[in-house]
Amino acid sequence: MQKTPFSFDLQMFSQNFEFNNKEIIGKGFDSVVYKVINKQDRNEYALKLTSFKDLQHKFNFQQEIRLLYHLNHDHIVKFYANSLDGSCILIEYMPFGHLGKLIDQRDIRIDIRIVKSIVNQIMSAIKYLHSMNIVHGDIKPENALISRDFIIKICDFGFAIVANSPNTKLRGGSEGYTAPELLINENYDAKKCEMFSLGVLFFVLFMGYRPFLSTHPQKQDKFWNYIKNQEWDKFWKIFETKNPDIGFRNYIQKLLCADPKERYTIEEAMQDDWFKSNQYTAQQLAPHLQKLLIKQ
Ligand SMILES: Nc1ncnc2c1ncn2[C@@H]1O[C@H](COP(=O)(O)OP(=O)(O)O)[C@@H](O)[C@H]1O
Ligand SMILES: [Mg+2]
Repeated sequence: MQKTPFSFDLQMFSQNFEFNNKEIIGKGFDSVVYKVINKQDRNEYALKLTSFKDLQHKFNFQQEIRLLYHLNHDHIVKFYANSLDGSCILIEYMPFGHLGKLIDQRDIRIDIRIVKSIVNQIMSAIKYLHSMNIVHGDIKPENALISRDFIIKICDFGFAIVANSPNTKLRGGSEGYTAPELLINENYDAKKCEMFSLGVLFFVLFMGYRPFLSTHPQKQDKFWNYIKNQEWDKFWKIFETKNPDIGFRNYIQKLLCADPKERYTIEEAMQDDWFKSNQYTAQQLAPHLQKLLIKQ
C-alpha cells in the first residue's frame, strides 16, 4: 500500500479491493465501517462509509479526512485513502475493535497498571494533537481501537477542531463525557474539555462503569452534583465497595474537577508521579491485553 494518502473512485476501488461478505465491523452515529481486503496482497483494511445526512455532517466527515491526512502518530489510526466524493475513508484495520469491549462483560477490575498503560498511549496521541492545537473532541472508549499488535490507537476525528484561537468552539461530544463548561456554553478552553473526557475514560476503564451519566445542568445528575459541589467524599462513598486507591482518587479529581483552571493539562497529567509510576511500555502491555481480550 502507498505511503502517501490517495483518492480513489468507485472503479479503482472495486478493481483493487473486495468486501469481506459485507462484514460490518462497527457502526457509529451516522457511519458504517466495513472490513475490506486488498485483492493483490490480501491485506485487510477498514472502510468507513457515511451518508451525508446534512451539511453539518458533511463538514464533520470532511474535517475528519482533512485532519487524518496530516496526522502521523503511533497511537492514531493510520489513514490510507479517501473516495473522490469524500463519502468514505480507507483506514488501518483494527481487529480487536474498540476499548468498550474491555469494559463490558467483565466482573473483575482490570489491574490499575494495565489501565494506566492503556490511558498513557491515548494520552500520548492527545499530547501530539494538543501540541498542534488540534482537539479530538470526542474521546471515549468507542473511539479508541486495538491493533493486531495490541497497540491502542484513537480514531473518529469527526468532531475534531483546530483550536487556533482561545475560544474556538467544539462541535459535539458524547453525553457523559462532555465537560460541564462546554454545556453551559461559556468561553471555554477546548483542550481542558478534552482532559475531562479523558478523566471519564480513565474512570470507566478502571471502575467498569461511568462516574455519572450527564454533566448537563438540566439533568441534575446526583453523582455529578457531588463533584460540582466539591463533595468528593460523598462521591467516592458511592464507589466504596470497589475501594479505589487514594492515588487513583486524587488523579481522577485532577481530571474530573468542575473548574477547568484546576484541571490538569495533558503535560501535567502525563507527568503526575502516581500516573507515571508503575506503567508498562506498549510492548510490555501487549501480552496483558491479549490475555484480557482472549479471556472473553
Ligand atoms: N479502523 C477500524 N478497525 C476496526 N473497527 C473500526 C475501525 N474504525 C472504526 N471501527 C469501529 O466502528 C465504530 C464507528 O467508527 P467511528 O469512526 O467511531 O464512527 P462514528 O464517527 O460514526 O462514531 C468504532 O467505534 C469501532 O467499533
Ligand atoms: Mg465514534
